[in-house]
Amino acid sequence: MEKIQTQFEKDVTKGLTDYPKHLPSKYIYDQRGDKLFQDIMAMPEYYLTNCEFDILSLHKTEICKAFSHDKGFDLIELGAGDGKKTKILLKELVDKNYDFDYLPIDISQNVLDELTEALKLEIPEAKVQAKQGTYFDVLSELDEYRSRKKVILFLGSNIGNLLHKDAIVFLKKIQENMHDEDVLFMGFDQKKHPQTILNAYNDDTKITEQFNKNILRRINREFEADFDLDQFMHWETYNPETGTALSYLVSLKEQYVNINNLDLQIKFDAWESIHVEISQKYDDAVVEWLAAQSGLKPVKSFLDQKGYYKNYIFKAAKS
Ligand code: AVJ
Repeated sequence: MEKIQTQFEKDVTKGLTDYPKHLPSKYIYDQRGDKLFQDIMAMPEYYLTNCEFDILSLHKTEICKAFSHDKGFDLIELGAGDGKKTKILLKELVDKNYDFDYLPIDISQNVLDELTEALKLEIPEAKVQAKQGTYFDVLSELDEYRSRKKVILFLGSNIGNLLHKDAIVFLKKIQENMHDEDVLFMGFDQKKHPQTILNAYNDDTKITEQFNKNILRRINREFEADFDLDQFMHWETYNPETGTALSYLVSLKEQYVNINNLDLQIKFDAWESIHVEISQKYDDAVVEWLAAQSGLKPVKSFLDQKGYYKNYIFKAAKS
């Protein structure tokens, strides 16, 4: 009888039997992966978090004013995480007595529970309604029963994990759920000195290496596989022409890996790679092009002090 495969099983089978090999970066994020990403965000080389924090702190007044509406609004966050950056905006909104509900969306109920608890203590005045699920299911569900202005947050340059064609599909789906007054507020890491970008994904403490290898560790655990993590190395590239940073795991020798639960044996040649992540960098021209392709228009942007990172406010172009 045919076994019904999960998406993770299908993606691993496809990715490791393709040439060249690849795995989707979203599978890095199990409990240990989440923790390692927290550690990445605390690294001095990983400038993205501080830059966005900087932008929100510097421009919170103007940003919150742009969010506001006389009938109030729903602040909807896609992939809320620990909310460290969002809290700056929530505090400002509460301090200035704006009428809003905060609706963080995340696939992980655990993440939402922790965030809700933390906000109860730190910003008790904020009305929080966490929504568990995938972004688009929740967005279209919200669109059906909420009638207030929607302010959609997508921070952290998380869009950078998508190839442009996939980013356009993603942005279009958001745009489909936007009315004239609704806004989308997003972070885009900018093109900059290539060495600064490489360093952000190639730290000496090897946290990024552990983070990327976590996908192999997870396959070992969930599929009874025998990847020897020491026989793979992390390799980062950045192409200043396309603005694309790529993370690879490279096999240090010819080796065979058994993935028992998938009935697979995978051969690696010496120096063969697995592509595991893309972290796209942007400039205004590319952001404007992505927006136009998706039926959106940028109406305002905010830069950090170093000029490394930008947050943009978009509206639907139809309005
Ligand atoms: C969460 C996708 C924004 O690509 O910069 C950090 C993930 N990977 N270091 C990024 C990541 C390695 C991160 N994003």
